[in-house]
Amino acid sequence: MITLGIEGTAHTLGVGIADSDAGILANVLDMYRPPQGGLHPREAANHHADVVAPLVSKALEEAGLSPKDIDLISFSKGPGLGPCLRSAATAARALSCGLEVPIIGVNHCIAHIEIGRATTGCRDPALLYASGGNTQVIAFSNGRYRIFGETLDVGIGNMLDKLGRELGLGFYAGPTIEKLALEGDKLLDLPYSVKGMDVAFSGIMTAALVLYKKGHRLEDIAYSVQETCFAMLAEVTERAMAHVGKDEVLLGGGVAQNTRLREMIAEMAHERGAEMFCPDRRFCMDNGAMIAWLGNVMYQSGVRMDMADTVVEQRFRTDEVEVSWR
Ligand code: ATP
Ligand code: FE2
Repeated sequence: MITLGIEGTAHTLGVGIADSDAGILANVLDMYRPPQGGLHPREAANHHADVVAPLVSKALEEAGLSPKDIDLISFSKGPGLGPCLRSAATAARALSCGLEVPIIGVNHCIAHIEIGRATTGCRDPALLYASGGNTQVIAFSNGRYRIFGETLDVGIGNMLDKLGRELGLGFYAGPTIEKLALEGDKLLDLPYSVKGMDVAFSGIMTAALVLYKKGHRLEDIAYSVQETCFAMLAEVTERAMAHVGKDEVLLGGGVAQNTRLREMIAEMAHERGAEMFCPDRRFCMDNGAMIAWLGNVMYQSGVRMDMADTVVEQRFRTDEVEVSWR
């Protein structure tokens, strides 16, 4: 069975094609980068509407397929920014009608988990999902993916991006902060905000800006922000693993591309005799392949949707989905 999946929860429009036997056949994307300032949802949505048709053609070409080879269309139903979600959903509905194939809307966070399970060989991991808009620790329990801990304010990536903007590092600052941190060596005092199983990041950003105004080096600030935030994530992930008895940890989301985060989680896992799994970077960031793959998995487990079920859900929670495929 071959599924074409469309991702469009935030700044990235991605199209992927997955074959239930052969795996991922295509994965193409185009990220909207605002000319200045932060991401404006409607501008990103217009970008998605502009690029989706050429990306569908490009994905088909990459897979060596024609439209009639597609058996199912899937798309990211949520969570995400309303206008962006609607661009992806509209394209998916048009394709489903035009090709006369079924349609399935999937949960974006669960897509991160399932592409990780499919491509890294882990079986039953706790997932640390660290992206721009989301920061959650998720594990399978009692028929659903449950959220054991999460951010109480912004996603870690959004905090890094906002901090980067304030420090003049440009948009999508995670990779820049990672590079700067390599040159930092002084651990500055920042609030360590773990509350039970949850974390919070906005106070760290405010404190980092104060340190900058006091004249501390950008490198030391970047280093300290990473060490503090990643230690918080390692702590709640470890507690979730202990709580639900998982001996595997899977990373997902754009921030999981960060080498230092990977090191710290690997160390935590190693110390408790567990194993860490990390998908290829192109499957960590938002991508269409994971949406196509989850569409496939859900359809084959018997899930069916009609057009009325394709309304987008900006606040679509991970634990709302009954996991029929495990
Ligand atoms: P979601 O819709 O799942 O919340 P997203 O729209 O934020 O995802 P992703 O591609 O998953 O998109 O993640 C993007 C985030 O990852 C950005 O905030 C970016 O700064 C951050 N990021 C990317 N690379 C790195 C890195 N090397 N280190 C830290 N952060 C990174
Ligand atoms: Fe994501």
